Amino acid sequence: MNRDVQQNRRAFLAVAGAAAAGAALSAGAQEPAPSGPVRILAISCSPRPGMTTAAGLGIALEGVRSFGRSRVETELIELAGKNIPVFNPASADLGDFAELIPKLSDPAVRGIIVGTPVYFCGMSSLCKAFLDQCMAFRKGGMLLRNKVAGILAVGGVRNGGQELAIAGVQAGLMCQEMIVVGDGRPSAHTGATLLNTDDSIEKDEFGRETARNLGRHVAEVALLLAGRA
Ligand SMILES: Cc1cc2nc3c(=O)[nH]c(=O)nc-3n(C[C@H](O)[C@H](O)[C@H](O)COP(=O)(O)O)c2cc1C
Repeated sequence: MNRDVQQNRRAFLAVAGAAAAGAALSAGAQEPAPSGPVRILAISCSPRPGMTTAAGLGIALEGVRSFGRSRVETELIELAGKNIPVFNPASADLGDFAELIPKLSDPAVRGIIVGTPVYFCGMSSLCKAFLDQCMAFRKGGMLLRNKVAGILAVGGVRNGGQELAIAGVQAGLMCQEMIVVGDGRPSAHTGATLLNTDDSIEKDEFGRETARNLGRHVAEVALLLAGRA
């Protein structure tokens, strides 16, 4: 089998698998209440692994765990180093996005926190490629429907476009019928907004607090919707 045929087959199987997993959720069906812990994932859309976006998401997941305790489990997924192709409607090549389809559409996953570096007042191109590849979830029967979404953005300057980047990601996830929330009290704005100084967010106590509040709020709403408040 040549490489193109193999890739197309892999892509088909990934979408078909996700569609089967989500069959019960299509046509407006409500997700069943999870019996185990509610899973909250964080997706880092920085091409640099382990850098400030990943660090900010780590703090957000601490916020998730501090709120949810034994009712939640968390995982940080970094897209850095993965092949997330620019979406092409004429191609079935999902690249490494294929491995994310069953992971994100798992009914136990009730919340997803997306983190992006600010690139020219918007999201990173990796983040846009990720959002566009999420077309697979729409095609599979709105597999992200009613999962909670929170967004985090890290910029190199205080007012570098963090909120613009957040708004762009939020709009994309609304197209997945996700329930988009901002950072919770006491900061309570559109999401987590962090400042990178010398490739570190250590000094940004305000931004770190917004990340913790975002995690807590995503956990609170996810648990509420899962009947586990
Ligand atoms: C191409 C590019 C464009 C950038 N544009 C902005 C910007 O508009 N505003 C801003 O605050 N920071 C900007 N930055 C800085 C990054 O947002 C910042 O360094 C961020 O912390 C990087 O995330 P990372 O550490 O996860 O890689 C830009 C960086 C790059 C590489």
